[in-house]
Amino acid sequence: MAEDINAVIAKLQASGKYRSLFNKAYGDEEVTSQRMFRSMTQFMGMMYSYNSKYDRYKRNETTLSGQEQNGYALFLTKCNSCHKEPLFSDFQLRNNGLSVNPLIKDSGRYTITHVLTDAFKFKTPSLRNIMKTAPYMHDGRYASIEQCLDHYTNNVTNMTNIDPLLQSGSIPLTSQEKLDIIAFLNTLTDYKFLGDKRFADPNFQ
Ligand code: HEC
Repeated sequence: MAEDINAVIAKLQASGKYRSLFNKAYGDEEVTSQRMFRSMTQFMGMMYSYNSKYDRYKRNETTLSGQEQNGYALFLTKCNSCHKEPLFSDFQLRNNGLSVNPLIKDSGRYTITHVLTDAFKFKTPSLRNIMKTAPYMHDGRYASIEQCLDHYTNNVTNMTNIDPLLQSGSIPLTSQEKLDIIAFLNTLTDYKFLGDKRFADPNFQ
């Protein structure tokens, strides 16, 4: 968030509400970066999404419709090599052929490592709850999931460090197959997780 840690600590220390919360958690009001990070670790460590329709299907608690099954089968052949189930990421850095955005010229992993083979590589994101997290890609260039699929079928750019899996060009999909994949992606939405009040903005509760 482009903020300095010391400024964050000063802001928290200035807030009566946070002083009282730190007191509750740690026995006194002192705000330190270590306490801050421990609290956030505890908070993020309890965020588990495991109740989507896909998860319930995997646990034999429900069935997929014909269209969802078709989408799942297509997903496994066309997308799963990078968006690997069950977390829908292989946690690798890859280049999925997005042309360089002239406004921000983000060269991806290269910005951190300065290794030329890292240029334009971005971490494969998970697709869990993907229907709820538009806009898409590192720069938010796509507003809809349809545009993401159109990217893979029509717009994969043969550029520096393009992933070997996409070197032969786009991923062919008919419009019906796209609809089937979208039906499958819809099964990755975990309404129980998304509606969990513990993760909501406390100021709006
Ligand atoms: C070669 C690896 C690879 C393949 C194959 C691949 N993807 Fe991706 N995908 C990526 C990477 C890497 C990104 C992140 C790009 C970025 O952030 O700019 C991504 C991003 C996405 C996003 C945006 C996610 C977000 O949170 O912004 C969606 C949606 C997506 N892929 C769906 C698919 C679907 C559906 C398929 C199959 C048709 C597929 N991908 C095939 C590597 C791949």
